[in-house]
Amino acid sequence: MSRPLRVAIVGAGPSGMYAAGHLLEGPGGTYVDGHLTSLVDQPVEVDVFDRLPTQWGLVRHGVAPDHPEKKLAQTVFEHIAARPGFRFFGNIEIGNHVRPQELSQWYDAVVYAVGASGDTAMGIPGEDLHGCLAARVFVAWYNGHPDYRDIEVDLSHERVVVIGNGNVALDVARILTTPIALLERTDIADHALEALRNSKVREVMLLGRRAHFHGAFNNPELEELGVLDGVDIIVEHGDLPDNHEAVLGELDATTRRKLATLETYANRPLAGHDKRIVLRFLTSPIEVLGEQRVAGLLVSRNHLERDDSGRLHVRPTSEEAVIDTGLVLRAIGYCGVPLPGLPFDERFGIIPNVEGRVRGMPATYVTGWIKRGPRGIIGTNKKCARDTVRALLADARSDTLPNTGTLIGTDVDRILRQRQPHLIDQLGWLHIDDKERAAGRAAGRPRIKITEIDQLVAAATGEPAIPANHG
Ligand SMILES: Cc1cc2nc3c(=O)[nH]c(=O)nc-3n(C[C@H](O)[C@H](O)[C@H](O)COP(=O)(O)OP(=O)(O)OC[C@H]3O[C@@H](n4cnc5c(N)ncnc54)[C@H](O)[C@@H]3O)c2cc1C
Ligand SMILES: NC(=O)c1ccc[n+]([C@@H]2O[C@H](COP(=O)([O-])OP(=O)(O)OC[C@H]3O[C@@H](n4cnc5c(N)ncnc54)[C@H](OP(=O)(O)O)[C@@H]3O)[C@@H](O)[C@H]2O)c1
Repeated sequence: MSRPLRVAIVGAGPSGMYAAGHLLEGPGGTYVDGHLTSLVDQPVEVDVFDRLPTQWGLVRHGVAPDHPEKKLAQTVFEHIAARPGFRFFGNIEIGNHVRPQELSQWYDAVVYAVGASGDTAMGIPGEDLHGCLAARVFVAWYNGHPDYRDIEVDLSHERVVVIGNGNVALDVARILTTPIALLERTDIADHALEALRNSKVREVMLLGRRAHFHGAFNNPELEELGVLDGVDIIVEHGDLPDNHEAVLGELDATTRRKLATLETYANRPLAGHDKRIVLRFLTSPIEVLGEQRVAGLLVSRNHLERDDSGRLHVRPTSEEAVIDTGLVLRAIGYCGVPLPGLPFDERFGIIPNVEGRVRGMPATYVTGWIKRGPRGIIGTNKKCARDTVRALLADARSDTLPNTGTLIGTDVDRILRQRQPHLIDQLGWLHIDDKERAAGRAAGRPRIKITEIDQLVAAATGEPAIPANHG
């Protein structure tokens, strides 16, 4: 092919940006098996689309505001976006402004990196009551995602119950209990800061349906709980067997470390802080109670049982209890959602693929959570995107990409601007970024997020600076 290979990437989150980075390979190439190798042997142009005017996906709208160090990947993404051949088309939703079939006609190849924008349901009565929310929605609210800025979050009750034992459950527990003076120094959305300032929440109870050693959280995140300012950590004693080795057999190092932390929490005296996080294991939600709003949660106790072959199983018991609460957050996992015109695997919430190649759709690829399911940290997406890009480049090399009447860059730009007058390009996003950081600097914070689409569009023009307290 004499002209550059033209690739569309849908989604400017970590997997989409890493895919762009691999395609627009930096000096020295890409690490494969510990060695720098050049993957790309032809000129490539990459257009990255996002339905939001902003970039970075869950690095902006997922990673907890009190974890700024986890957001350092954004610097890598900034460098990728500065490479020749990179263009950004923000505020363009694929499936709305542009159909996937059109993208396939406009480009030599399309990579879907749309993440997982739905959530898993518990499938229990009362789940739809006011005050029972997916943690995904709560997280998007405190991180200033424009779609969730106006949701109702009732923090008037003393206890919040969080279902699930993953890192997201720990994130929301921290945000609900961290002293407001600390949150005021982060990039948490202003509307969330205001609500948390007036919060009556004193206790966050995390429920794990399995045992303590099954906790899906990572050790550093679990250990961080122990040093939170002004928060007691309570691990309910009865959940920890006295002799782990006898109960569990040979434990791996990660599980040992987890248990040691939980035992430390269980055994240390409480400091009597105003706020507490309670970890309760072997407990399943049965029904969210209430008329219009959440008034409580009915739970049942589980126990560990060994089968004839010695394997441990979690089994329900008939022991039930009601936990008094006004807010239930289900942190039991995100889930991909279908895109019109693309296959979808309902069971796993992914676009079905073989090593990143979408089944039955030539020149169409996936990466990130929509490829693998909603698991893995930011860095996991780097290798994931590399594998997808290698498949794409191998197809290009072997001439298996159907050569459609690919549009040149200026044509794509013209069509998109006709369909979306408020398209945000790379320069527009840089203006938004600059203004948010400038507002943040003035307030001693990393940034103050703009959380409304029309204000983001206005900020993208590079015209007058946004007021410090724009909400
Ligand atoms: C609450 C939470 C906290 C986390 N914290 C950490 C952490 O501290 N450290 C860590 O390493 N990992 C963390 N992770 C994991 C990390 O965020 C994910 O591994 C990563 O974001 C997945 O990347 P992705 O590109 O697949 O999806 P996403 O980050 O979700 O990006 C998908 C992008 O696609 C866009 N999009 C969706 N649909 C369309 C469409 N139709 N058209 C155009 N654009 C579209 C979205 O707007 C979004 O920008 C966290 C995850 C969550 C949920
Ligand atoms: N700081 C960080 O690095 C960070 C922060 C946030 C997220 N992340 C990453 O993002 C990914 C997603 O995190 P996540 O917390 O959403 O998911 P997760 O790690 O998969 O945890 C989900 C939790 O929900 C429980 N669960 C699932 N279905 C349930 C049900 N029906 N009833 C009760 N409990 C149920 C699971 O229990 P079982 O184990 O019993 O199934 C598990 O404890 C993970 O890879 C995580 O590491 C990383």
